[in-house]
Amino acid sequence: MTEQFEFTTTEERTDAVDTSVFGEDTRAEAKQIIARYPESRSALLPMLHLVQSVQGHVSPAGMKFCAEELALSVAEVSAVATFYTMYKRKPCGQHLVSVCTNTMCAALGGDAIYRTLGEHLGVGHEGTAGEPGTEGSITLEHAECLAACDLAPVLQVNYEYYDNQTPEQALELVKALQRGEKPAPSRGPALSDFRGAERQLAGFFDDLDETVTGSSQATETNRGAALAQERGWIAPSMPDDAELPPLPEKK
Ligand code: FES
Repeated sequence: MTEQFEFTTTEERTDAVDTSVFGEDTRAEAKQIIARYPESRSALLPMLHLVQSVQGHVSPAGMKFCAEELALSVAEVSAVATFYTMYKRKPCGQHLVSVCTNTMCAALGGDAIYRTLGEHLGVGHEGTAGEPGTEGSITLEHAECLAACDLAPVLQVNYEYYDNQTPEQALELVKALQRGEKPAPSRGPALSDFRGAERQLAGFFDDLDETVTGSSQATETNRGAALAQERGWIAPSMPDDAELPPLPEKK
């Protein structure tokens, strides 16, 4: 049975959680993350990504590890880990496929893409086809606005974009992932896997050159700026004597 995110804040049960899955290398990387911030607790978000890069989800051990390294309570770590959808409560597949089903994408075919992939994989939201973490295993989720409405309908694999999709294209993409292939995203770096993406989100780029070479822009996204430039349109400048609201007092 896969380990679920069954969280407890009781000291007795937390003490029994074994964090040895996080070895010396991971502990050294945790120290590097913490050193980026003036207050160690500020490092919690990338620390949770580091945990996911090791385990493929945020387990009770992962939460205890973060709490120990950041001098927080497990309850404080849990409050954050359960708030954000990017922190997974169940082990993820090799790849996380996120299909946008928000208004623009849904109207242009996002719902049909999600339905097609769900039927093919035999899973619903946050379900995994295959043994989590093994090659070709896929976790499916529907997501709310992936911030690429101009390229709708879109989906992401491990947070890399596949733009202007049809159900047929999305199905081919997922079948290729299941065969162990990694089709190139529409933009951005080459496709990694979920744990690799989580490592990057923790701030570790093992192949930085490759990561930054991919094009990050789409023509559609720049269309407005290009038109404005062609036509000489500029935003009105702020008058020198504009009245500004008072700055809030520093606490
Ligand atoms: S509605 Fe899908 S990216 Fe915004």
